[in-house]
Amino acid sequence: MNRLVVIVATLFVPTTYGAAGGLWCYHDPSCDDTTWSAIVTEHCNGSRQSPINIVSASAVGDETLTAFTFTKYGDNSTMNKIKNTGKTVKVTLKSGVQVTGGALSEAYDSLQFHLHWGNGTSVPGSEHTVDGTRYPMEMHIVNAKSSLNGNTTAAVADDTGLAVLGFFIKAMPSNVTGSPAAWNTLTSYLANITLKDEYINITHDAFSLDELLEGVDRTKYYRYLGSLTTPNCNEAVVWTVFKDPIKVSQDLIDLFSTTVHIEHNSTSDLMTNVFRNIQPDNDWVVTTQGHPASGASTMRSSLGLMALAWMLLRV
Ligand SMILES: *[C@@H]1O[C@H](CO)[C@@H](O)[C@H](O)[C@H]1NC(C)=O
Ligand SMILES: *[C@@H]1O[C@H](CO)[C@@H](O)[C@H](O)[C@H]1NC(C)=O
Ligand SMILES: *[C@@H]1O[C@H](CO)[C@@H](O)[C@H](O)[C@H]1NC(C)=O
Ligand SMILES: *[C@@H]1O[C@H](CO)[C@@H](O)[C@H](O)[C@H]1NC(C)=O
Ligand SMILES: *[C@@H]1O[C@H](CO)[C@@H](O)[C@H](O)[C@H]1NC(C)=O
Ligand SMILES: *[C@@H]1O[C@H](CO)[C@@H](O)[C@H](O)[C@H]1NC(C)=O
Ligand SMILES: *[C@@H]1O[C@H](CO)[C@@H](O)[C@H](O)[C@H]1NC(C)=O
Ligand SMILES: *[C@@H]1O[C@H](CO)[C@@H](O)[C@H](O)[C@H]1NC(C)=O
Ligand SMILES: [Zn+2]
Repeated sequence: MNRLVVIVATLFVPTTYGAAGGLWCYHDPSCDDTTWSAIVTEHCNGSRQSPINIVSASAVGDETLTAFTFTKYGDNSTMNKIKNTGKTVKVTLKSGVQVTGGALSEAYDSLQFHLHWGNGTSVPGSEHTVDGTRYPMEMHIVNAKSSLNGNTTAAVADDTGLAVLGFFIKAMPSNVTGSPAAWNTLTSYLANITLKDEYINITHDAFSLDELLEGVDRTKYYRYLGSLTTPNCNEAVVWTVFKDPIKVSQDLIDLFSTTVHIEHNSTSDLMTNVFRNIQPDNDWVVTTQGHPASGASTMRSSLGLMALAWMLLRV
């Protein structure tokens, strides 16, 4: 009898943890991304989950995908603090950083950016892939509708409450080191946050978002409606995935998988392979700059309109 109680209790433990929202992971088969749709049903089992593999030839031309206007992206005093969350390295931004345009419905406040990676340059760890290619790393700048005044509960409950800007990171040739300078500075802070929950204020050694995004043509991107890639996987994200990668030297890329640990304990595992696998393609339409010209893309375009109409009806 007692034994049965123990077994039943054990069976329910993962669900309880999932509901608590805390104990998902990347590394352990009992809580890695293959389990999220079961342990965090709201919303990891949904039908517009990210990341996805972007098939470039199937992206539908959309003339409304104009350039963005970035506010304070050139300002070198917007970085607030850098933190080891146990799942990623996250930099929070000071208020006043914004993005508009790019066919977003209103201005969005840039709140933080964080990174996803594999295991150094040898094991790639971007979340999105393009035509099946996975890049070494991916940077996500997370933005929320300005009209929601920083209410993240409201943002994740809104179909388009968040706008995430995704940037691929590609390795430079191996004879280049410590480059670009802004990434050298950013990664120099990793030694101060080797353990989970450690953070430091970014005070001196300033760098700007523009410097981190150097070399990327920010008028060329893919757009689709998806979700957060970590629990609770809320389907609240307008995704922008830029085509050009940021180029970073291999020694700096390697620092992420060799410096920070997943627990508040230096004997715990190093943080590696912190990305979610590709989610099922539910015919969700990916758009990009251009004219909906060819027969194939016109057909896809009407499919896109159908999907849009369905979405509007659903709201
Ligand atoms: C996901 O799980 C929730 C809660 O169990 C359920 O209401 C919903 O129908 C499920 N959705 C799908 C697509 O299975
Ligand atoms: C990451 O790569 C290092 C060096 O190649 C290797 O020792 C380590 O086992 C790898 N870690 C994982 C989780 O695969
Ligand atoms: C945040 O938004 C939620 C959902 O819309 C609402 O219930 C809550 O009252 C808001 N919180 C604040 C502080 O405005
Ligand atoms: C790296 O090697 C390439 C070609 O081998 C060369 O063109 C380039 O100047 C080198 N860069 C540095 C920083 O040594
Ligand atoms: C960060 O780490 C470096 C190198 O270990 C050290 O010199 C510096 O004092 C640390 N900074 C803070 C704010 O802890
Ligand atoms: C960061 O700055 C805040 C105040 O701005 C201060 O309270 C906190 O102690 C600082 N943290 C560290 C780790 O320096
Ligand atoms: C930060 O920007 C200010 C104003 O543009 C400039 O004077 C300063 O040199 C910059 N600091 C660094 C570390 O680049
Ligand atoms: C640190 O982690 C190791 C291995 O993960 C574990 O054996 C040890 O008990 C932990 N120490 C503390 C103080 O948590
Ligand atoms: Zn992310």
